[in-house]
Amino acid sequence: MLNKVNTLIKEINNFTASTKEEVEQFRIKFLGSKGILKELFNEFKTVDNSLKKEIGQALNTLRKTAAEKVNELKEKLEEKTEQKAIYGDLTRPAEPIELGARHPISIVKNKIVEIFSRIGFNVSEGPEIEDDWHNFTALNLPEHHPARDMQDTFFIEKNPDILLRTHTSSVQVRYMENHKPPIRTVSPGRVFRNEDISARAHCIFHQVEGLYIDKDVSFADLKQTLLYFTKEMFGKSKIRLRPSYFPFTEPSAEVDIYWGLETEVDYKITKGTGWLEIMGCGMVDPNVLKNAGIDPNEYSGFAFGMGIERIAMLLYQIPDIRMFYENDTRFLEQFKSVL
Ligand code: DAH
Repeated sequence: MLNKVNTLIKEINNFTASTKEEVEQFRIKFLGSKGILKELFNEFKTVDNSLKKEIGQALNTLRKTAAEKVNELKEKLEEKTEQKAIYGDLTRPAEPIELGARHPISIVKNKIVEIFSRIGFNVSEGPEIEDDWHNFTALNLPEHHPARDMQDTFFIEKNPDILLRTHTSSVQVRYMENHKPPIRTVSPGRVFRNEDISARAHCIFHQVEGLYIDKDVSFADLKQTLLYFTKEMFGKSKIRLRPSYFPFTEPSAEVDIYWGLETEVDYKITKGTGWLEIMGCGMVDPNVLKNAGIDPNEYSGFAFGMGIERIAMLLYQIPDIRMFYENDTRFLEQFKSVL
């Protein structure tokens, strides 16, 4: 009988089940009212007294093993159904995760900010609804200055003092009013001009302004900073500065990069010259420093400003500025892989 019991224990240990029904059948077979254990305990009554202790212990082990097996299998199967309830069919194909895309304006803005942040520039912002002082007067554009006409301005409710900023240069003034030099800041933002909308111009667009103020800042610092920027941004290492005029800088310059004339597109976008204008810049006019509360005898600095749409159009060969604002997903989806 002992042998029989030990064989049964082995059988129980090797048993597995994949359904609840199988477990139940197993339970009935061993532990049921007409089961194997019942039978064995009946047989046990007839066992010789000298063997009772040993066989009794073996039978108890058998019962325990069977009962534990039933519980173990039941728990396992329950866990499985629980998992199924949470995850469903784990073998089914995964649902594709739709990736969004950043807007090209954000991509280019982030890139510009990142490039300047590497050389110590922070980011600053100012209001889109601006007053005359910060947008014009403090920037050396007093009332009736002819250069004001260059920037067709939207005024708010016929109040000539409150307007939508026409450039991010207004943030320069605000930043200088609130911070002491040394100053190194870039100010990205939206600007507004009362212009006819066309493939090349829009009444709402974006700029990044740069400002660097410290002791002994020279034009050479400006040139070197811009060269660094164009290398990082466009991978182009040849620039030229053409004398120009801005009321808030003296001297002022327009920055061209040498784009090259390798492809037909190069010819088209550079109008056959190989050169492309990308921003305005100059040494901050002493009057502007004074207006913003900085002593021009102690400090000097440079500033620059560029249009984000223009740069995005160059980088991604976008033919029409209106595409930025139409929210056509067929256009926006193309920037999915760009960070
Ligand atoms: N504010 C100018 C514009 O909107 C761009 C600009 C030119 C900004 C020269 C500057 C600068 O800071 O120095 O066209």
